[in-house]
Amino acid sequence: MEKTINEPTIVINGLKKYFSVSNTFLGRKKQMVKAVDDITLTINRGEIVGLVGESGSGKTTLARVILNLTRPTEGSVMINGIDMMHATKDEEKQLRSEVAVVFQDPASNLNPRQTVASSIMRPMILHGKGKTEAMKKAEDALDMVKMDRRYLNSYPHQLSGGQLQRIAIARALVLQPKIMILDEPTSALDISVQAQILNLLLDLQENMGLTYLVITHDLNVIRYISDRIAVMYLGKLVEFGPTDEIIGNSKHPYTNGLMAASPILDPKFRGQKKELMGGDPGSLIDLPKGCRFSSRCSKVTEHCKNTLPGNYKITSNHQVSCFMYEKELPKLIY
Ligand SMILES: Nc1ncnc2c1ncn2[C@@H]1O[C@H](COP(=O)(O)OP(=O)(O)OP(=O)(O)O)[C@@H](O)[C@H]1O
Ligand SMILES: [Mg+2]
Repeated sequence: MEKTINEPTIVINGLKKYFSVSNTFLGRKKQMVKAVDDITLTINRGEIVGLVGESGSGKTTLARVILNLTRPTEGSVMINGIDMMHATKDEEKQLRSEVAVVFQDPASNLNPRQTVASSIMRPMILHGKGKTEAMKKAEDALDMVKMDRRYLNSYPHQLSGGQLQRIAIARALVLQPKIMILDEPTSALDISVQAQILNLLLDLQENMGLTYLVITHDLNVIRYISDRIAVMYLGKLVEFGPTDEIIGNSKHPYTNGLMAASPILDPKFRGQKKELMGGDPGSLIDLPKGCRFSSRCSKVTEHCKNTLPGNYKITSNHQVSCFMYEKELPKLIY
């Protein structure tokens, strides 16, 4: 499924998003939650990148920064050549129509007091389209997500989870985006409906040449849909590479643990003994000095505990952040 064109569309450089939290209960001073901590990655046009990582590893925060819903602490995000941090009002408006989002909870994507038609039309009206044109486009959007137009008069509570998610996708499509950020788009859905939504997303992506960043905990979903997989651990990007390599030949001990923990529905792997990851997920506040994964890693050395690893290049599109590869692979300099 790998695409041939390598035209960068999302370029993230040294991105950090820290939250300041105060722990008044213990009388401590303010502390930093390093939700996204120095992430550099590029997503190409027409590519589907899956983003995985344990709960709290910073995936949604990264998505929110890309969507300009929150400002980064440091670093830059360029989308289709526009530097988000220095965008003019017009460029910001352009980005709002070029980058669409679908969240996990189908209901949270839509206003409960508005009909489906009003919800789908709203972003177009905000972008200056007339009512008649907006209605026509809303009808077209329902066709695209293979739903009957009669649902335009429905309210969210009258629809099923799968139908709501189709409507959320229709709403995301009306401004003709180039990029879609999908944060757990199918995890609230029944497994058969999940497959329908994933196939719908794949059809739309192919027909419209969209770029997707898909966040999910479900490795089967990510394996089915992505060209490349990015793996986050406590705010860091630990591995990024082609789906087949990440699934079948992952390099980072955390990715290995994640793969082992997932019940991949493939008879090929049945009966193989899994080396499961030990320890609890770490905290973003009391981070180790060195590698974030060092406290749980079976391959840990003193060096890992004290120094942050760089990113090492396995192939032109596969990188890993682990000292095990320091000697044999070139270091990526950003
Ligand atoms: N507005 C905020 N203020 C303070 N801390 C925040 C804020 N938003 C997120 N965080 C913290 O940042 C960390 C990363 O959160 P984030 O929602 O990005 O994780 P995630 O990888 O999306 O997790 P999940 O898989 O559970 O959705 C968490 O520790 C969270 O508590
Ligand atoms: Mg999240």
